[in-house]
Amino acid sequence: MEEQIVQEDIVKAAQEEAEKAEGSRALYEVKMKFLGRAGIVTAMLKKMKEIAPEERPSFGKKVNAIREKLEQDFAAAEARVKQRELAAKLESESLDVTMPGKRQKKGALHPVTRVKNELVDIFAGMGFEIFEGPEIENDYYNFTALNTPADHPARDMQDTFYLSEEYLLRTQTSAGQIRFMEEHRPPIKMLSPGRVFRSDDDATHSPMFHQMEGLVVDKNVTLCDLQGMLDEFARTMFSSSSKTRLRPSYFPFTEPSVEVDVSCHACGGKGCPLCKGTGWIEVLGAGMVNRRVLENCGIDPDEYTGFAFGMGIERIAMLKYGINNIKLLTENDVRFLEQFKD
Ligand code: PHE
Repeated sequence: MEEQIVQEDIVKAAQEEAEKAEGSRALYEVKMKFLGRAGIVTAMLKKMKEIAPEERPSFGKKVNAIREKLEQDFAAAEARVKQRELAAKLESESLDVTMPGKRQKKGALHPVTRVKNELVDIFAGMGFEIFEGPEIENDYYNFTALNTPADHPARDMQDTFYLSEEYLLRTQTSAGQIRFMEEHRPPIKMLSPGRVFRSDDDATHSPMFHQMEGLVVDKNVTLCDLQGMLDEFARTMFSSSSKTRLRPSYFPFTEPSVEVDVSCHACGGKGCPLCKGTGWIEVLGAGMVNRRVLENCGIDPDEYTGFAFGMGIERIAMLKYGINNIKLLTENDVRFLEQFKD
């Protein structure tokens, strides 16, 4: 009878403590207090020695009964705690799909990069290959080989940043024409994008800007081929009804040389502030490759002819997007740049 009371007390105490335990860690500690190696049940078994031998079997049976009951109760308590913990976890990790999402700001390509990529697409589609020359050039490639010797007045057309007697920051991607023709034989179709530098600074000029150079050399290449390609370029870049117009001009490395106008995409040629009432906008310089330039590169000008063109990428971006100050393209104000998202 006495043992019976002890048994009930222990089981009850264990149940109460297990109930109070918050979380599986605390429950484990309670369980160890009763069933662990240094726990209450073990301590009871150790008492066996003090008990009269004839009472030992029944005592042992009772202790075993307590242990079995405790084991069952703790298993049930553990299951309960696990269930509760899982429910809490699910609750805390639940996702409210009606909450407004966190917006991830998407970047955009710079207008100069966009125009450059478009130009590359247009001309790569016509079979041009890309060539990039160095930004630090020597006098020979930037001027002399382009039929612009040291005393040539055309050197004044471009205010050059000289690094030394011999080296300079290239003023034009035309320098790449020479490098390419030294390495390749006709047929040649080369497109050369890159940075160029001139000591020039106002609303439409910047000391660093980008050009896109084109060069075609083959048998029977004519000025008509040049205009045909530029028409295609103008239609893709500006508007499907764009036309081009060639005006006589002068560059030492082309003969004849032309200034290429594109019909104004803003007014369709009627005349507006963008085209200053003329209906035409000057877009690039071009011409038939001067025979001296072909000779300088070891190409026979009696067998081959070619044309070249060079355009300012900033200028095209400004015309296309209606940007009135070139500085906007280098300030990198996000309020400006954000307007060029797709
Ligand atoms: N290099 C010339 C310039 O920078 C442009 C040009 C290129 C003209 C190719 C004719 C042929 O002004």
